[in-house]
Amino acid sequence: MTDSRIANVELGTGGPEVGVQGLGCMGMSFAYGPTDADEARATLERALELGVTLFDTADMYGLGENEKFISPFVKAHRDEVVLATKFGIFRDTAEPTKRTIRNDTPYIRQAVEGSLRRLDVEVIDLYYMHRRDVNIPIEETVGTMAELVREGKVKHLGLSEVTGGELRAAHAVHPIAAVQSEWSLFSRDIEAGVVPAVRELGVALVPYSPLGRGFLTGSFVNADQDLTSDDFRRTMPRFTGDNAAANAALLEPVRAVAEAHGASPGQIALAWVQQQAALLGLPVVPIPGTRKRTRVEENTAATRIVLTEDELAVLEPIASKVAGDRYADMSFSSAGRE
Ligand SMILES: NC(=O)c1ccc[n+]([C@@H]2O[C@H](COP(=O)([O-])OP(=O)(O)OC[C@H]3O[C@@H](n4cnc5c(N)ncnc54)[C@H](OP(=O)(O)O)[C@@H]3O)[C@@H](O)[C@H]2O)c1
Repeated sequence: MTDSRIANVELGTGGPEVGVQGLGCMGMSFAYGPTDADEARATLERALELGVTLFDTADMYGLGENEKFISPFVKAHRDEVVLATKFGIFRDTAEPTKRTIRNDTPYIRQAVEGSLRRLDVEVIDLYYMHRRDVNIPIEETVGTMAELVREGKVKHLGLSEVTGGELRAAHAVHPIAAVQSEWSLFSRDIEAGVVPAVRELGVALVPYSPLGRGFLTGSFVNADQDLTSDDFRRTMPRFTGDNAAANAALLEPVRAVAEAHGASPGQIALAWVQQQAALLGLPVVPIPGTRKRTRVEENTAATRIVLTEDELAVLEPIASKVAGDRYADMSFSSAGRE
């Protein structure tokens, strides 16, 4: 299978070398309905065979269950896997639907110990602040994260859903290897403020939900009708009601480009992320999430698709036409603070 392996890239200036596509593990324990655990485990192994090395989790995915789930895989391949996890969204077991953002030092110290324990590793390769708590100066938060690097608990630092200004302030305290934010054919708000800062500082961009949470693959249209009652996507304005139908129509040009390449719409969405990043001069490692071997094969194969200038022009206007925000509460995103 050597020729189907994906290429490698440096994860930001001075960051670790990783496969050009990572794997989002969230859905294996959280947010996207029922999971077949055996197939999910096999998906982790298949991804690694295909050259995927950046594996993404967070302490809040399934209240720690996702970290526990991937731990045996990570430990079995510790030298090959670049392990990324996150702190900052506190969910109480007594009240799991409520989320509180915490960036204070005592919380970070408690969170990192919890992640190290659940993952059962000595060090986290990439430790992200998952969300920004605006009540705590970012310099203070990153100062604490830098202490974790000095103490050997963490190797590299990342930030998720920060604004360009927040990234610059953080990077002045300690080098930031990666910014993780939503970026896809459907979600391009970060191009205004975050992308210029990322490029200027040599930070890697790790786009999450590059498949538009699965919508860009055409695997569902209306979250209320097509997904299980506990699926997180039912809270997202763009996937429900009239918005869902209007947005599904936006996939027509994606399907047409896919057909021309003998590819799937999801592969075109992934190829777009890689190619748009190259045009903007950004190191990029998208982390599509899947729990299925055939899909990780399909997704990694997308790194070999090259879109023409005409195709990129056809895809260009899609994001501006999307109906509905990406979160019900946009203060949860960097765009809500730009
Ligand atoms: N930093 C943050 O705030 C944040 C937020 C959200 C996500 N994330 C991270 O980013 C990762 C990816 O984001 P995401 O999972 O939200 O969205 P995504 O990667 O855009 O889409 C995932 C969805 O697409 C489906 N899918 C994947 N490949 C497919 C294919 N080839 N054909 C058809 N369907 C396919 C998956 O279903 P199956 O699993 O059933 O294949 C899943 O429902 C997450 O796993 C998580 O690690 C981070």
